[in-house]
Amino acid sequence: MLPHTLVSDERRAAAAAAATAPNGVPTPAPTPRIGLMLVGWGGNNGSTLTAALKAHAHQLTWRSADGVHTPNYLGSLTQASTVALGTKSTSHNEKVYVPMKDVLPMLDPKDLVIGGWDISGAPLANAMRRAAVLPWDLQRQVAEFLVDDAATDATSDGARAPLRPLAGIYDADYVALNQRERADHVLPFPGQPWLQMAQIRADIRGFKQKHALDRVIVLWTGNTERCVPLMVGVHDTPRAMFRAMQQNHAEIAPSVLYATAALLEDTPFINGSPQNTLLPGLQTLAQIRGVPLAGDDFKSGQTKLKSVLMDFLVSAGLKPVSLASYNHLGNNDGHNLSSTAQFRSKEVSKRGVVEDVRVAARENFDHAAGPDHIIVIKYMPAVGDSKRAIDEYVSDIFMGGKHTLTTYNVCEDSLLAVPLMIDLVVLMELFQRVKYQTVDADGFQPLHPIASLLSYMLKAPVVPARAAVVNALGPQRRALENILRACVGLQPVNELELENKAY
Ligand code: NAI
Repeated sequence: MLPHTLVSDERRAAAAAAATAPNGVPTPAPTPRIGLMLVGWGGNNGSTLTAALKAHAHQLTWRSADGVHTPNYLGSLTQASTVALGTKSTSHNEKVYVPMKDVLPMLDPKDLVIGGWDISGAPLANAMRRAAVLPWDLQRQVAEFLVDDAATDATSDGARAPLRPLAGIYDADYVALNQRERADHVLPFPGQPWLQMAQIRADIRGFKQKHALDRVIVLWTGNTERCVPLMVGVHDTPRAMFRAMQQNHAEIAPSVLYATAALLEDTPFINGSPQNTLLPGLQTLAQIRGVPLAGDDFKSGQTKLKSVLMDFLVSAGLKPVSLASYNHLGNNDGHNLSSTAQFRSKEVSKRGVVEDVRVAARENFDHAAGPDHIIVIKYMPAVGDSKRAIDEYVSDIFMGGKHTLTTYNVCEDSLLAVPLMIDLVVLMELFQRVKYQTVDADGFQPLHPIASLLSYMLKAPVVPARAAVVNALGPQRRALENILRACVGLQPVNELELENKAY
């Protein structure tokens, strides 16, 4: 017996409809129309996501030296991975797999209506070219689709206006100084956070209305900000935060204004960067309003592998003693991270990923301090978005021996991050519709607004106050699978397989 009953809105709607429909056939629930507003829309991730979804929607194909390519979703858990539902009784307990996206009704990423803000005013087609991530033949073709389907351009005869970001909140104190020349499209009211936040709220309402959306999700994929030092009376409660905004307090970051605006508009907010946007006051606001929050920092390449390898080393009974991570990259994110305060935010989120593994090891071994762990990030313009990551893991092994494992990752950073952005949005939207009921409660409840179920995609998961942070990738994925299974009435994944072991 499951301790809880979990159910999605569709399943309940379908069950209700089936109960009343004359032929007993469940009526499919309408799919909500969802908007996605990206903060940092014109960046490498934002422009790559938008162009890739347009390529899917218009079924574009493009050529490279090695042949013809079609759009795919590789790297996305929901769109490109499967879940084992159970075993066939007819064959040798052969497993049955289904695509994760088919376990429950989930939004189709290409149906997302995308908009957002950027402090750089470049239209999306130019932003995509500036990012230099997608192959040229695809860029060439997709540019004509980077237009606003809901607006015509006043200057040309009925032509669609190019997609352009809304003006963003720029505060030079939060991102690197080297971003200044990019900031040509900024909201007025500098130094007046309350007014800026009100404008972001109006932008969300306007976007929702213009595109006739049921709901909107806001995702921060803007540059990494410096962290704010937590201050009592400024960041600890919603009231303190509102007062600080009204009094033009300097320690209110632009990302906090976007997040507050989203919550006040009943719009979930996801933080894809490492800075500490999800302050205690903001988390309380999310709980008061029952609007989900998730963060921090996309867990794309190096850190994802680290959360697997550390789990492996410790689970194998080895004792990791040092972990050295070097990165160099040449995109705008790398340029921003070449500044000390912004690098510091990234260092903290990358470091945290081994924390639960360290705790697991400490319980059994004299290893309280955990492994030495250093992180280096260097800006190297020549490699562009193609990030290099070199990691060295040294572990103590049997009878005084040493084991050294070195990994070398090369990958376009944004092509790893975009599938995670898709999963974060698809799952955030789904979990807003999932309700649960405990055996002793009368009604269904929503899931906790601090959406720790999205941890698989995040380097430094923010979790409810009473919960432990889980960084290891395997357990994070199983938590997701198990909740999807529970929603369709299946037992949690269990690798006991007693039927194969019983004599
Ligand atoms: P990017 O530098 O290409 O794009 C960021 C965009 O944000 C820029 O267009 C910039 O003008 C805009 N921006 C900055 N501050 C803003 C504000 N206050 N309001 C509106 N727009 C603002 O960076 P990229 O590569 O797209 O990465 C975005 C974020 O995602 C970075 O913080 C990065 O650390 C984080 N991230 C990226 C990963 C990846 O690409 N694999 C992995 C993990 C995190």
